[in-house]
This record gives sequence, C-alpha cells and structure tokens, in this order.
Amino acid sequence: MDALKANYLGRIAEAGDEAALEELRLAALGKKGEVSLKMRELGKMSPEQRQTAGPALNALKSEIDSALKAKKAALADAALDERLRAEWLDVTLPGRPRRMGTVHPVSQVTDELTAIFADMGFAVAEGPQIETDWYNFDALNIPPEHPARQEHDTFFMARAEGDDRPPHVLRTHTSPVQIRAMAAQGAPIRVIAPGRVYRMDMDQTHAPMFHQVEGLAIDRDLSMANLKWVLEEFFSAFFGTHVKTRFRASHFPFTEPSAEVDIQCSWEGGQVKVGEGDGWLEVLGSGMVHPKVLQSAGVDPDQWQGFAFGMGIDRIAMLKYGIPDLRAFFDSDLRWLRHYGFQSLDVPMLHGGLNR
Ligand code: PHE
Repeated sequence: MDALKANYLGRIAEAGDEAALEELRLAALGKKGEVSLKMRELGKMSPEQRQTAGPALNALKSEIDSALKAKKAALADAALDERLRAEWLDVTLPGRPRRMGTVHPVSQVTDELTAIFADMGFAVAEGPQIETDWYNFDALNIPPEHPARQEHDTFFMARAEGDDRPPHVLRTHTSPVQIRAMAAQGAPIRVIAPGRVYRMDMDQTHAPMFHQVEGLAIDRDLSMANLKWVLEEFFSAFFGTHVKTRFRASHFPFTEPSAEVDIQCSWEGGQVKVGEGDGWLEVLGSGMVHPKVLQSAGVDPDQWQGFAFGMGIDRIAMLKYGIPDLRAFFDSDLRWLRHYGFQSLDVPMLHGGLNR
C-alpha cells in the first residue's frame, strides 16, 4: 500500500495538465481503479485484517483525492500567472501620438464666407467645372470673336478626331453658374457659387487652378448701392474689422456698369493688413448684370435687375491668414501652413497637389 501511495503521489506531483490528473484519478479512484479494487477486496478479508486495512485504504483514498485537488488548483494558478505575464501591459508608457487631418485653408475660408453670405440670404449654387463654351462665354455676352476670350487663357478639352462641335472648356470663372442658377430658378434670386476655376497661368499669385466665389442677386430694383453694402458687410465680417471698399469703373462683357472693387489696407513692413491704413488692394470684379445675360438665362430684363460679383477665394484666404505664396496652397508640403495657424495639415491626400 505504501508503494501504491508513493507511486500515485509522485505521478500527481509531476502531472502537467488537468487531463493527466483526470487519468490518474480514474486509474486510482475510478470504478476499476487500483484503490477501488483494493477496497472491494476488503469483503474477502478476515475481520482482523479488515480492521487495519479498512482505515488505511480510506486514508489512502482521501490522501490521493486531496493531492489531486491541490495539484489541480496549483495548475490553474500557474495558468493564470502565465496569462497575466503574457498580457502584461505597461500603463505608464506615454501614448503614441496620432496624426490628424484637418480642413484645408481654402475649404475653411469657403465655409466661412458661405456662412457670412447665408446670413444675408444667399444660397449656394453649383455648376460643372467642365463647361460648354456657351455657358462660359456666349451666355455671358462674350461672343466667339470677343477679345475677352483670349484674355481668359482657356484650357480646351480635347475632341475626338472628326468631331467638329465646339470643344468643352475648363471653366475660366464661376460666372457660368449665374446662368445655370437663373435658368433653373428664375428671379428673384440670391446665390453665391464658390468653386474651382482654371486658367493657363502660374506665378507667385496665380495658379492654373484656383478658387472663385460668384455672387448674384436679382430682384425688382436692386442697385449698385445694394452691391456696395453687401460687399462691405461681407469684408467686415470676414476680416473681423470694418473694411472700407473703393469702386473703380471697369469693364466686363457681362455687367453694365462694371466696377473693380478694392479693399482698404496698410502695407507696413511688407505686410498687408486689411481694414487699416490708406492703401488699396484689388479683390474682385462686379457690376449690374447685363440685360443680355438676363435674357440668356430666360429672365426678363424689363422686369428684373441686379448685381453680380466674382472674387478669388485663395486671394482673400492669403490676405486673412498672411500667406505670401498662392502655390503653397496646392503644390507643396502643407505642413508649413501650421506656421500660419492651421494645425495638423499632414493629410497625405493633399500632398501630391490637386488636379495636376
Ligand atoms: N467673372 C469675372 C472674372 O473672373 C469676375 C466678375 C464676376 C465680374 C461677376 C463681374 C461680375 O474676372
């Protein structure tokens, strides 16, 4: 019996997992286990023999039983320790910083100006960037031989060979949206149309793709005075300070009379500051919408009149945020813009430049 005990206690101590323990339990205490068989033999013993063998077997049985339970608990503990070790985590380590994207300055400025014009009742209108030359020119009172067509440095879309329809163009300004909006909605109307426009031009202040916002208001008796009020209201809200405007007589085929509009600024130390000083900076073209333009869009010029204006969004973004080079918006690593107060511009999508 001592041998039996030594054998089992030894093997239990060495068991590596629960399955091995269960095997040992069956071998010793199962129905046909060694200890159970010995117990069954008690019946055949003499009473004297039974008196010593009985308690000894019972003691052996409970000793093996508790050894099994203890070992089982020890195995579970070890497994838990192992898991804790494997899943150990240093909660005192500093976090890994995440790179975050943000809104491009041009989109941000577009949102700002949209909100300001919305306060004055202007809705947003849209049109395609690939236009027919009718919408881009003819409907705006720029006939085929008009010199203004050359001034626009237009990109023409390629035509298939043998196709002699007039080619589509990349819109050179947002003014075609005036026609589309009036044709769709009629008068009265009050819309702005922000968006991309294209001209073959490239230097510090010109990019082949840039952004304009068109404004259009048509009603029974709108005048240049309304135009001036709307623009001063806009610039003052946009630059956060009262901004005076100066209207200079000009010419656009689609407005009559026409005016170029300058905003008040100072030029101290090579730095432009809007809304102070006695300098002027040209920022937009405008005028009273030409009767022929109203007609192209199906609006009766005897009943309706109003004003339109078009300005460069990139230009006013540069002015507001003091950014000197337009090309940086579209063509370079945008991280430098942080310098001007735009955070986290590490948006991979924007790095390759747009539409090149
Ligand atoms: N479309 C003109 C431009 O691109 C701007 C403009 C718009 C002028 C509306 C007058 C009225 O230069």
